[in-house]
Amino acid sequence: MPGVTIKSQREIELMRDAGKLLRDVHLQLGEKIAPGISTLDLDRIGEELIRKTNSIPSFLGYEGYPASVCVSINNEVVHGIPKADRYIEEGDIVSLDIGLIHNGYQSDAARTHAVGRISKEAAALISVTEESFFEGIKFAKAGNHLHDISNAIGNYCIDRGYGVVYDLVGHGIGREMHEAPQIPNFPQKRRGILLCAGMTLAIEPMINIGTGDVDFQDDGWGCLTADGSLSAHYENTILITDGEPEILTL
Ligand code: CO
Repeated sequence: MPGVTIKSQREIELMRDAGKLLRDVHLQLGEKIAPGISTLDLDRIGEELIRKTNSIPSFLGYEGYPASVCVSINNEVVHGIPKADRYIEEGDIVSLDIGLIHNGYQSDAARTHAVGRISKEAAALISVTEESFFEGIKFAKAGNHLHDISNAIGNYCIDRGYGVVYDLVGHGIGREMHEAPQIPNFPQKRRGILLCAGMTLAIEPMINIGTGDVDFQDDGWGCLTADGSLSAHYENTILITDGEPEILTL
């Protein structure tokens, strides 16, 4: 994994371009989620939307991942492989994770959607997961330390009784999807690296109603909550500046 990279002004422009395109792909694919659509249909539509923007789906073929979109339903945390016979149902919560490469620069983002009417508990989980991202990025500025972000995300969720997934983390991003540093969503004892203007980071809380423990499926990708409880995922690619962070995928 490449080390921490500081992007030049020109690279930041390219990261902004990639981020806007990914934001639009998310908005369009999110609208396709409805009872009866298969997760493979969502992948096909997602790939088409990405390619229409002259971008490359970054997940496709990444360490052998067979699709362009990760579709993770209910107790699936992340990395759900799209399938022709897996259908979205009323009352599901569906996480879409999408990455693209545009003019050599990467963008990565995830959203969790409600399908029709969902339980109060599920809706609260989605809200807390999103809120924890925004709590975290309050600390995402030059001069702070990386784990200020981790602590803010983790404590926000733990204080509200949720389980934080600690087996998976956010990451630096740039020419590569995964660059240093790793970004835990869990409180840390060490303070982590010093944040500098020009770093671009994919911050992605994965939060469960029950335990933060997860199991991995035999396909080598699928990740499930160990207790079967619901899980939500929210991710944006951001730019560190001397002031407020810029959210590139929103
Ligand atoms: Co990511």
